[in-house]
Amino acid sequence: MAAAVTAAVSFPSSPKSTSLSSRTTLIAPERITLKKVPVYYRDASASGRVVSIRAQVTTEAPAKVQKVSKKDDEGVVVNKFKPKNPYTGRCLLNTKITGDDAPGETWHMVFSTEGEVPYREGQSIGVIPDGIDKNGKPHKLRLYSIASSAIGDFGDSKTVSLCVKRLVYTNEQGDIVKGVCSNFLCDLKPGAEVQITGPVGKEMLMPKDPNATIIMLGTGTGIAPFRSFLWKMFFEKHDDYKFNGLAWLFLGVPTSSSLLYKEEFEKMKEKAPDNFRLDFAVSREQTNDKGEKMYIQTRMAEYAEELWELLKKDNTYVYMCGLKGMEKGIDEIMVSLAAKDGIDWLEYKRSLKKAEQWNVEVY
Ligand SMILES: Cc1cc2nc3c(=O)[nH]c(=O)nc-3n(C[C@H](O)[C@H](O)[C@H](O)COP(=O)(O)OP(=O)(O)OC[C@H]3O[C@@H](n4cnc5c(N)ncnc54)[C@H](O)[C@@H]3O)c2cc1C
Ligand SMILES: NC(=O)c1ccc[n+]([C@@H]2O[C@H](COP(=O)([O-])OP(=O)(O)OC[C@H]3O[C@@H](n4cnc5c(N)ncnc54)[C@H](OP(=O)(O)O)[C@@H]3O)[C@@H](O)[C@H]2O)c1
Repeated sequence: MAAAVTAAVSFPSSPKSTSLSSRTTLIAPERITLKKVPVYYRDASASGRVVSIRAQVTTEAPAKVQKVSKKDDEGVVVNKFKPKNPYTGRCLLNTKITGDDAPGETWHMVFSTEGEVPYREGQSIGVIPDGIDKNGKPHKLRLYSIASSAIGDFGDSKTVSLCVKRLVYTNEQGDIVKGVCSNFLCDLKPGAEVQITGPVGKEMLMPKDPNATIIMLGTGTGIAPFRSFLWKMFFEKHDDYKFNGLAWLFLGVPTSSSLLYKEEFEKMKEKAPDNFRLDFAVSREQTNDKGEKMYIQTRMAEYAEELWELLKKDNTYVYMCGLKGMEKGIDEIMVSLAAKDGIDWLEYKRSLKKAEQWNVEVY
């Protein structure tokens, strides 16, 4: 597998300086060395054929055709490594990708797998943090969406990457509490071991159709599966997959200094302007014209008619990942759109789900 990339991790757009680690620019098609671990980046020069997308306009809810289920794909591995017998990987790279002034820290990390944890875009892995819980038992695993494409950030199918938010909150007693696994992960140094389970999950697998319209709705670290999709679509060359459809990403974050992988996505847009649309919703800095907070659904509402027309197509697939609350907000805009055509949104959503066109992993 060719091993050269132009963009592995992008950094916050905030003009304010970020930590030294997050300033380590990884946009380099050359080999770098990290603690004896040679790191290669892949070539991002795959070109995408330009296709114009036309939504079929209809005033009736089209009957959904049952397609070949992505869940029946024989090549998808699940639960190869279980909690009693986890895979021991090693941290190769761990870097903060939010600015110092962002509310909270998010880190991008790469673990070695030596090809032993074969995963697909859209799957998750479990991590068992080191140490014991308050009852003296080993900690339970936590799930994390995989943020790299199946061939990994170094293009050799020997790594897996995560995008992890450090959980820190104040409890009712006023004490500062640090989440066990997220803090373990964000503090991992290159060379450290990490216990991995999985891979798991089939809900967020990509559609097979390379001409599909794929609408990706992510809040915060919910961006992880979409980074994996988009790398496959725009930064890689595959003999059996060449994306010629439309990918439309909506990403919601609190501040511009917490925009995740922004430079990578902008590079993709430069490469494939007709195949990739990119919209950010920066909740604490932007508002709509009514002065309302710019949540992901607020941004989507600006394109309401267009999105609704796309949703009538048989090869439009929606994926949602991140905060649980986002699903309700998105339903609210869809209800009124569907109603204009006399369609009951919740019923229509059920048919989309059945046809695997509405895929949700929120937490
Ligand atoms: C399928 C799936 C994929 C996921 N993918 C990702 C991902 O890609 N990136 C990512 O960062 N996370 C992801 N998560 C979340 C992740 O699994 C962990 O839940 C998260 O990292 C917190 O774990 P922790 O061990 O740090 O916190 P824990 O030590 O487990 O503490 C979490 C607990 O703290 C309490 N708590 C949390 N916040 C507050 C608060 N504000 N006030 C009071 N109590 C609170 C709650 O009881 C909560 O259950 C995913 C979850 C799922 C289910
Ligand atoms: N597969 C999964 O299930 C999966 C994968 C990855 C992450 N996650 C989870 O997803 C969450 C992401 O958290 P994060 O801390 O990374 O995100 P974050 O940085 O806090 O960003 C979340 C963004 O969503 C906004 N938001 C808050 N409530 C919303 C609502 N009801 N509707 C729409 N947008 C809303 C926030 O706005 P304000 O803060 O300004 O209100 C903020 O702009 C975490 O709980 C994580 O565990 C789940």
